[in-house]
Amino acid sequence: MNRTIIIGTVALLTALSPQTLWAQIYKDRHAPIEERVEDLLSCMTLEEKVLQLHQRTIGKNKNSNNIGEKIKDIPAGIGSLIYYEDWPEVRNDMQKKAMEESRLGIPIVFGYDAIHGYRTIYPIPLAQACAWNPSLAEKACAVSAREARMSGVDWTFSPMIDVARDPRWGRVAEGYGEDPYTNGVFAAASVRGYQGNKMDSKENVAACLKHYVGYGASEAGRDYVYTEISRQTLWDTYLPPYEMGVKAGAATVMSAFNDISGTPATAHPYALKEILKGQWAFDGVIVSDWAAVKQLVPQGFASSLKEASLKSIRAGLDIDMVSEGYLNHLAELVKEGSVPMEEVDEAVRRVLRLKFRLGLFERPYTPESSESERFLRPQDVAIAERLAEESMVLLKNKDNILPLTAGKRIALIGPMAKEQEALLGSWKGQGKAEDVTSIWEGMRKEIGEPDSLLLYAKGCDFEKEDESGFAEARAVAGKADIVVLCLGEKRSWSGENASRSTIALPNIQERLAEEMQKTGKPIVLLLSNGRPLELCRIEPLCDAILEIWQPGIAGGRPVAGILTGRINPSGKLAMTFPYSTGQIPVYYNRRGSARRHQGFYQDITSNPLYSFGYGLSYTTFEYGTPRATATTIGKDGTVTVGVEVTNTGQYDGTETVHWYVSDPYCSITRPLKELKYFEKQLIKAGETRKFHFHIDPLRDLGYVDGSGKRFVESGEYVISVGKEQIKIEVK
Ligand code: NOJ
Repeated sequence: MNRTIIIGTVALLTALSPQTLWAQIYKDRHAPIEERVEDLLSCMTLEEKVLQLHQRTIGKNKNSNNIGEKIKDIPAGIGSLIYYEDWPEVRNDMQKKAMEESRLGIPIVFGYDAIHGYRTIYPIPLAQACAWNPSLAEKACAVSAREARMSGVDWTFSPMIDVARDPRWGRVAEGYGEDPYTNGVFAAASVRGYQGNKMDSKENVAACLKHYVGYGASEAGRDYVYTEISRQTLWDTYLPPYEMGVKAGAATVMSAFNDISGTPATAHPYALKEILKGQWAFDGVIVSDWAAVKQLVPQGFASSLKEASLKSIRAGLDIDMVSEGYLNHLAELVKEGSVPMEEVDEAVRRVLRLKFRLGLFERPYTPESSESERFLRPQDVAIAERLAEESMVLLKNKDNILPLTAGKRIALIGPMAKEQEALLGSWKGQGKAEDVTSIWEGMRKEIGEPDSLLLYAKGCDFEKEDESGFAEARAVAGKADIVVLCLGEKRSWSGENASRSTIALPNIQERLAEEMQKTGKPIVLLLSNGRPLELCRIEPLCDAILEIWQPGIAGGRPVAGILTGRINPSGKLAMTFPYSTGQIPVYYNRRGSARRHQGFYQDITSNPLYSFGYGLSYTTFEYGTPRATATTIGKDGTVTVGVEVTNTGQYDGTETVHWYVSDPYCSITRPLKELKYFEKQLIKAGETRKFHFHIDPLRDLGYVDGSGKRFVESGEYVISVGKEQIKIEVK
């Protein structure tokens, strides 16, 4: 090599900054993700790292709980944004700024709350759980992911898998009910649906398990408050759904607002660092909830935003959502030695990994597409409709009044009859009321001509005390053969920051039911709501009750199908309906009382009105005697239990079989029964189908202690299915 070449090479190498040299590696799409992450990390300054851990908003916010911004001055090097627009244009402009104006060209990841659909809104998660069809829920999440990604969103803040046993809490609508296993199954299904096999495809988004952890235990159903959770309960009730979601490959987790027995979840080293990142080896991102870092101050856990940031990052929280604590204090905390640089690096590493996994470095921009290419495609609407019909629960059907006989005159009465907005439920994403088929419209289409078979009166509003519409409602009911009474909750009555002190319907709606009963006409009650309701006064007034939840855009179409018998209802409750508010909390998997014959309420029944797993069909199912491949097994053996179910009625029907396990005696007391598996099958009239539960003793019969250690003890276990039981001995 001659001298000139050597000098030239040395000069060139000196001129190149390390990042220019490394740039070729982190920008190399063929290099392994971990290498790309390390390369990029090694080029970053502390200030650049801090920006990756900062999240704020962009676009017009439609959620009244959050404050959206139209921001021109967002730094080009920001890590993530919550994106409120429903088209990619603003995102692409902002992304261009990040790619071209930030020193390293790191793409921004855009998040959003697509909770039960993006534009094609499907039923609220609580309703979805009642369909017991996780593969259908998975398909719905895939629809949501496609619509979101094509609109400029890479990351959805869903699923919410907070076990919840207090229906006063508005957020029960957003989760999958009172049972840990059910929440876990739907967590895994959602993750598969959102993320698909390849998160970097143009149609998938990153999922976010939330709110980690124990938020569902909010005292008295009030939102954002203290939660008293022992380590035992944390492990046996609140953590299992998260473990199942993490195992399914969830890319991110959101920490919760609640204070867990003295340590807020946002800065909880045991939950975040030790369990999630340590024991479960979660290598994704933990994002705080909205302003939760800042809220450590009113929670009494930090004296300033700086201390709140210190406690959060040290506990393992990676991204600070909108508090600006990391933005304003993290660099200073590192420089003064309170936060080790390695901990910042570890958080940034996770954010970069997410971005590589999403393929953002290769495809930072979202291609523009028309609304019709993205939204409400017939095949996607069909999924929303099927999920809605499977989620509806027939709670009462006296003398088989349903399905309705053709040719009868039906009076649709009540404030829900022509509603569209309410049927969307909370967190409606980009959903629009005009996309929703109302009950009235659904019935009109189902019945066809003549319209004269369908009558209508609103009767009253959802609330207040105005009874002036009662007379018209009575007159209309008088002309009909049957009254279909449409009651329930407005959209804003459940969801975040929407707790209620009573879960009864407002007095005016109950009064309307009384008025209708006085007409002597048979009454079919349709209920649309985001939580279990107190129905003790209204239930005796009605001949049939159909819980339609907040079904999303399909709205009245499946309702009409069920009323007319085109669809045989198959939903079963994923959350108990208390007899009255005073029974709360009441849930199926409680522990045994010391005195099973005493301790009841003196003024009301101690039983709930409708328990977890309850739901009627137009047909009848008969369960055979369960059989097991063995009745005694070793702790590491396996056994399969099976049961035959026969459809003994006139209609084809779909049955969900729930398998419960009870351990009558254990060194840690256990719930009276716990759901461990479920399976749903169509059984034609007269047909018999087999259902099986493959038992792994440690997973299905065993239990966790207060440190999360799973164990199985020798002894007798009871497996119950329907009203049948079988015993298995573990040696
Ligand atoms: C607060 C809610 O608790 C959370 O569920 C949501 O994802 C964030 N806000 C962002 O909107």
